[in-house]
Amino acid sequence: MKALTFLARRFVAGESPQEAVRVGERLRARGIHATFDKLGEDVHDQDAAARATSASCELLRLIPSGIERNISIKMSSMGQEISRDLCLANVSQILDVARETGGFVRLDMEGSKLTESTIAIFQELRKRYDNVGIVLQAYLHRTPDDVKEAVRRQDRVRLCKGAYREPASVAHQDMAEIRKAYVACAHELLANGNYPAIATHDEELVSETIAWTRAQAIAPKRFEFQMLYGLRSSRWQELVADGFNMRVYVPFGTHWVPYFYRRLRERRENLLFVFRNLFR
Ligand code: FDA
Repeated sequence: MKALTFLARRFVAGESPQEAVRVGERLRARGIHATFDKLGEDVHDQDAAARATSASCELLRLIPSGIERNISIKMSSMGQEISRDLCLANVSQILDVARETGGFVRLDMEGSKLTESTIAIFQELRKRYDNVGIVLQAYLHRTPDDVKEAVRRQDRVRLCKGAYREPASVAHQDMAEIRKAYVACAHELLANGNYPAIATHDEELVSETIAWTRAQAIAPKRFEFQMLYGLRSSRWQELVADGFNMRVYVPFGTHWVPYFYRRLRERRENLLFVFRNLFR
């Protein structure tokens, strides 16, 4: 377990919010923004949801003013699976603190059993808040419609491929199909959306975004790239040097195991990194 803790540190900034903020300060010095995520998901009792809510409020207050107060949260941690009203109340509390501190809150997207409810709660929150954004997953068959609706409402969207195992009835399974779906959604968001985030490490998609936005004369400041802490750090710097906005997702906390395993499952290189270090 100790070895895993050490290895997880490639992908997780630390256990405390202070360690995450220090990472944010180092990124800021390199011209890179951060979004902070206190790891934890699937809360099934009201007290745990209240603790997760308070932790997000404290985090927003702890981030110094020199760094953007930008956090990502999981609705399942805020009581989504207990009751919609409880979740709405908890997330509203976080958005009130974000408003007070000039912060922004991104609702991460989880497995497909939560998609509909996450979007419904988000739309409810959007009636009262403009400092909240959503994540849409290109692998889901429903996402082109969700993108159209987000563009119509001028919601802020982070577009990712999708990290959860889903059945073929719900999501594309083939990487070529997922990339094709990603590009179509990205074009719609880049052309007509509100400051979309292109969240991927896939060079094919990063290069395509650069080429396509240049061809369409879409200014680099109208969108941002996002990548995960620990993945492709030299590319972050190149994108900043080329005039693009770059944000790194900085996870921290003690509940890092599910997040760590999702990263390992995604890429052979990530697994190889772990094995190389385990047997060194
Ligand atoms: P993928 O892993 O599919 O790799 C494709 C190609 O990218 C590779 O063949 C290689 O060319 C290149 N590549 C990837 N990693 C590399 C590396 N380390 N070094 C060099 N090349 C590399 N998911 C979700 O379901 N809900 C969410 O809320 C979020 N949030 C989120 C935020 C941010 C900022 C990011 C970047 C991602 C997410 N995700 C997510 C995760 C996302 O859905 C997806 O699972 C991962 O980003 C992996 O897909 P990629 O497109 O990044 O590359």
